[in-house]
Amino acid sequence: MPLIDAKELSAADAYRLLVGIVVPRPIAWITTLDGSGRVNAAPFSCYTFVCNRPPMLAINLGRRDGTLKDTARNVRQRGDFVVNVVTEALIAPMHQSSSDFAPEISEPSLLGIELAPSRLIDPPRIAASPIALECRLDRIIELGEQANDLVIGRVVAFNINDDIYADGRVDMRKFRPLARLGGPHYAYLGEIITMPSSDNFGPRPVLANPSEVP
Ligand SMILES: Cc1cc2nc3c(=O)[nH]c(=O)nc-3n(C[C@H](O)[C@H](O)[C@H](O)COP(=O)(O)O)c2cc1C
Repeated sequence: MPLIDAKELSAADAYRLLVGIVVPRPIAWITTLDGSGRVNAAPFSCYTFVCNRPPMLAINLGRRDGTLKDTARNVRQRGDFVVNVVTEALIAPMHQSSSDFAPEISEPSLLGIELAPSRLIDPPRIAASPIALECRLDRIIELGEQANDLVIGRVVAFNINDDIYADGRVDMRKFRPLARLGGPHYAYLGEIITMPSSDNFGPRPVLANPSEVP
């Protein structure tokens, strides 16, 4: 096994390795408003939840040669944004919206992506996304050599379609989230495997077939 010394890697090499290693990633399709009220939409897969009281998400926005992407600029200026969750059905418009459009271009207008009003913040959500999380900016942590802005947002409203939501939970089988792998590659969730809750852990035989787990 070759040892790769991180000091020897260029930024691009490190990026290529990391996006292939940290997989599969969910996709936050973020809508924001610019200073003129135009709606910007772009996908970001370097994202996760980082706190549950209050609910908080972190999204890592890379810079282009040290310059902020439109999403990062809008979040800094206005302090609010929507994380629209990407499902299998949304792969094409989501992927198209990732092109490096000029700042004055509104991806939803250009690509015909339908929007719907948010409840508590000004940026609208993407109508076809079954889950839209309305966020207010908590803080931005600048990382590396003018490389990344880690945006941490507080979720102030959860918009979840009735058909995938019951008893305070999202139905994984109906939700059908899309995952991003390295580069232009995506994946769907495969078989869902259910393990006993951690209360039940203790010495027990390894089961050949996970569906046998009681
Ligand atoms: C599925 C997907 C995931 C992406 N994830 C990220 C990410 O986590 N961070 C990032 O900086 N760019 C990411 N990108 C690239 C941005 O979407 C792209 O740079 C986009 O043009 C930014 O748009 P904006 O300037 O309107 O904000 C991703 C692209 C795709 C297709």
